[in-house]
Amino acid sequence: MSTRQQLLIYLKESKGTWVSGEFLAHKIAVSRSAVWKHIGSLKDDGYVIESSRKKGYLLCQISDLLLANEIREGLNTNVFGKGDIIYFRETDSTNARAKYLAGDGAPEGTLVVAEKQTDGRGRRGRSWFSPPGEGIYTSIVLRPPIPPNEAPKLTLLTSVALAEALLSLTSLKVNIKWPNDILINGRKAAGILTEISTEMDRIDYVVIGVGVNVNTPCKGLPPDIAHTATSVLMETGRVFPRIVLLRAFLEWLEIYYETFKTKGFDPILSRWKHLADMIGQQISVDLMDSVRVGKVLDLDKDGFLILQDRRGMIERIISGDVTLLNQE
Ligand code: BTN
Repeated sequence: MSTRQQLLIYLKESKGTWVSGEFLAHKIAVSRSAVWKHIGSLKDDGYVIESSRKKGYLLCQISDLLLANEIREGLNTNVFGKGDIIYFRETDSTNARAKYLAGDGAPEGTLVVAEKQTDGRGRRGRSWFSPPGEGIYTSIVLRPPIPPNEAPKLTLLTSVALAEALLSLTSLKVNIKWPNDILINGRKAAGILTEISTEMDRIDYVVIGVGVNVNTPCKGLPPDIAHTATSVLMETGRVFPRIVLLRAFLEWLEIYYETFKTKGFDPILSRWKHLADMIGQQISVDLMDSVRVGKVLDLDKDGFLILQDRRGMIERIISGDVTLLNQE
């Protein structure tokens, strides 16, 4: 264990009380100046630590950054977040980083996390608003033993896991809008971008990228999404610890991923249907080159949308942008 990690353990154990530099230096078997240097680097990483020449050090507040050691602490998973966690204060896109790592052989469960993205990507070539410290921007590498045509199921599975994480930690009204937008009180708070690399008829890797607006303040959203998007802070009026939500998401994701591998997609689909609550709704779907309007009859076994238009024609929709008409 590194000096820094040991130092953090002692500081956390005595959180709220002062601990002398001498004690820390003795326990960790380093010099007092080494302790001082590491305290400086912890402060740089967002830990609020008071220093006094007489009393030593006092840990007042744990860092709000999504640091690997903080993510791991108390994380109840076997694989996700247990291996490599690649952390960036700033990067272009966590999906781009994760794809690069996956192409280089990174194992399943490798996690990329950023405080800020300069080129956050959304579905259908859109960008994802990623201001520093306000959201969760993360991507995970999966190597699922399924054929490529089943990969879209992983996106639905992820949306269920993310909805479960929000429902387990808040009393908010959380829904899924097909295929994978997470809505809070009817507005989009999170999105999922799945990217896949295949070789012949097998999947090499899947990168699941998740963006959540957690502590985006009112008026913090850019004008183009201000009327359709929201954040946990905007809906609750309270700053929410991002790390708690990230851990819960990883835990739910692992539960559903294991369920998928051992029991198949049916249990996930039925939970998805419940959370989406779309059956019977009037919607319009933008298919890029055309728009379909109709009533949602069902979601089929692959999670595709079964839509009936006004003339009674039934169509299976594989991908598109949905607008819920009766909620406009
Ligand atoms: C959507 O359009 O709804 C999907 C948004 C996905 C955004 C996340 S943020 C982390 C990861 N990295 C990216 O560049 N995009 C995804």
